[in-house]
Amino acid sequence: MRVLILGGDGYLGWPTAMHFSARGDEVLVVDNFAKRRWELEEGIDPLLPVSNLHSRVKAWREISGKDIELRVGDLLNHRFVYKVFEDFQPEAVIHYGEQPSAPYSMQSRETAVYSQHNNVIGNLNVLFAMQSAAPDSHLIKLGTMGEYGTPNIDIEEGWLEVEHNGRKDRMLYPKKPGSFYHLSKVHDSANIEFTCRIWGLRATDLNQGVVYGISTDETDMAPELRTSFHYDHVFGTVLNRFLVQAATDEPLTVYGNGSQTRGFLNIRDTIQCVELAADTPADRGDFRIFNQFTEQFSVKQLADMVQATAKRAGVDARIENTPNPRVEQEDHYYNAKHTGLLELGLKPHLLDDAALDGMFAEVQANCDRVNADLLPPTIAWARNEK
Ligand SMILES: NC(=O)c1ccc[n+]([C@@H]2O[C@H](COP(=O)([O-])OP(=O)(O)OC[C@H]3O[C@@H](n4cnc5c(N)ncnc54)[C@H](O)[C@@H]3O)[C@@H](O)[C@H]2O)c1
Repeated sequence: MRVLILGGDGYLGWPTAMHFSARGDEVLVVDNFAKRRWELEEGIDPLLPVSNLHSRVKAWREISGKDIELRVGDLLNHRFVYKVFEDFQPEAVIHYGEQPSAPYSMQSRETAVYSQHNNVIGNLNVLFAMQSAAPDSHLIKLGTMGEYGTPNIDIEEGWLEVEHNGRKDRMLYPKKPGSFYHLSKVHDSANIEFTCRIWGLRATDLNQGVVYGISTDETDMAPELRTSFHYDHVFGTVLNRFLVQAATDEPLTVYGNGSQTRGFLNIRDTIQCVELAADTPADRGDFRIFNQFTEQFSVKQLADMVQATAKRAGVDARIENTPNPRVEQEDHYYNAKHTGLLELGLKPHLLDDAALDGMFAEVQANCDRVNADLLPPTIAWARNEK
C-alpha cells in the first residue's frame, strides 16, 4: 500500500511510519517541524533527545534496509499539499499533522487562533487535495475523545440515533469539547463528514484517548529510532508527569479531586488501530468513526497506580491535590463505547504492572535529565491572556 503519513516527525507519526515501512508498505512522511518550534517557544525538551527526521530516516534505512520517503512542507501551503498527493498517489492518508496540545491552545489569543487555523485549514487542504488528486484514497484522521467532553449520557462511536417529536434520524454525536484545541478537532470532523457526504470521499475518524508509552517493535530496535516522551505541562500527559514526579521525589500533583475520567491506550495500540483502519478502508461516501482507547481511568486512579509502581521499585511517592488549572467537570458520568476497533481485531495492551514497571524504570534511568521547572502548570483555562 502507498501510505502517506502527515506529521511524520511527531510522537505518533514516526513510529507509525516505521511500522508500515517494516511490513513492506511504501511510506512517505510529511512534516514542517512545527512541533520542534513550539518546543523552542516554550523552552521545553522531551526527556530524551530525539534525532531530527532526516537522521531517523537514514538510521531506519541502515537498520532495516527499507526506505521511508520524506518531504518537508506545511499543510497550510495548499500547493505543496496538492503536489504531494499528485506525485505520491496515496492509498491511505494517516493524518497526525496538527497542533495537539490543549494547554498550548488555551495559552493566549494567538495560540488559540494559531491552533485552529493550523488544524482546520491544514485538514481542509488535505481534503481538497484528496478530491483533486486521489479521490479514492482513504483518510485516517486522528481526532480525540476530548471532542465529546463529559456528557451525562453514554458516549457513542460518533453517531447518535435521535428521536425528536416522533421522528428519528442518525446525527453526528453532539460535542462538548474542553479546549480550543479540542474544538479544532470538532471542526475537522464536521468538514470531513461534509466531504464524504457531498464529494463521496472515504474517511475514518479516530477519536483517540490519551496515548502512553514510547516502546514499539521498531523504536526498540535502536536509540536513534526513538520517539518523544513529554512530561511537561504543555505537551506532557498526566501519566508521564506522574512517572517523572515519582522518579524525582516530587509529589504527584492531582488537579482538583482527581475524579476526572478519560480513555487511555498504549502507543502500540495506536499503531494497531491505524493499521486495522488502513487494512479495512471505509467505503466511498462513508464517514466511519471509532473511539480509539482501551481503558478508562480517573486521574486519582492513575496517581494511585504510579504510587504503587514506585513502591515496587522501593520509592515512596506522595500524592498531593492542587488547584485545577483547567475548567473541567469533576465527579462526572463517563461511559464511552469503544467496540468498533475490537470488532476489527484490536488486541489491547493494557496498563498492567509490567507496563508501568517498564516505563518507570526507563524514567528513573534518565531522571537526571528532568527539568522540574517544566512540571507546574502555568496556563489557566479561565485566564487566557499571557
Ligand atoms: N498523543 C496523544 O495522546 C494524542 C491523543 C489524542 C489525539 N492525538 C492526535 O494525534 C495526532 C498526533 O499526535 P502526537 O502526539 O504525535 O503530536 P505531535 O505534535 O508529536 O505530532 C504532530 C506532528 O505534526 C506536525 N505538524 C503540525 N502542524 C503541521 C503542519 N501545518 N504541516 C506539517 N506538519 C505539521 C508537527 O510538526 C508534529 O511533528 C495529533 O493530531 C493529535 O491531536 C494525540
